[in-house]
Amino acid sequence: MFTALDAGLLGRARKQGLIEIHPHDLRPHGLGNHRQVDDTPYGGGSGMVMRPEPIAAALEAVTAAAPGLTRILMTPQGELLDQATVRELATLRPGLLLIAGRYEGFDERVRAMVDRELSIGDYVLSGGELAAMVVIEAVARLVPGVLGNPESLAEESFAANTLEYPQYTRPEEFQGMRVPEILLSGDHGKIKRWRETESRKRTARRRPDLTADRRPT
Ligand code: 6GU
Repeated sequence: MFTALDAGLLGRARKQGLIEIHPHDLRPHGLGNHRQVDDTPYGGGSGMVMRPEPIAAALEAVTAAAPGLTRILMTPQGELLDQATVRELATLRPGLLLIAGRYEGFDERVRAMVDRELSIGDYVLSGGELAAMVVIEAVARLVPGVLGNPESLAEESFAANTLEYPQYTRPEEFQGMRVPEILLSGDHGKIKRWRETESRKRTARRRPDLTADRRPT
């Protein structure tokens, strides 16, 4: 689940020491000979529930080594992740402690051990690991030096709450579809206005919810 930490942008940023990511296994903190981390729910029902003790023990061990981290429980019941939240998370020092468990849920008392709860969207994953990876990737690219081209970050922030305009690269014609003439015109003022208009049209059509009054991202 965490192999992506060594690949691409994240792998490079870690190697360069721009970010640190330390995965920890809950299993060594599990209970009994089987190092159990979950159990059947009181009151009956299907699925398993994450026990609180292994999580408490893991949090204690990590906190001893790295105090002051903001504790975030990954759960579909959490606050929905958006770019505004990503930006906020990127400002937190010394960093984040993401807790991933199984989808069926955490014992309710785990909630008392964390600072906040995050979901990455309204769909179900079997575990929080890939959701944690999404948070890591989204936050890491905001850390200075991680992105090769800081200009694209500035543009992203400028284009907050709108979808990207249509982009083209070579060739000028592909399967009968031509690059819009305006992009070949060299008139940068016109190109800028065209892109703003296309962005607005696309956002209105595809994501009218983004246009509604909303905090800036
Ligand atoms: Cl954070 N966890 C799980 N298990 N499923 C999710 C999620 C998190 N966010 C969306 N779906």
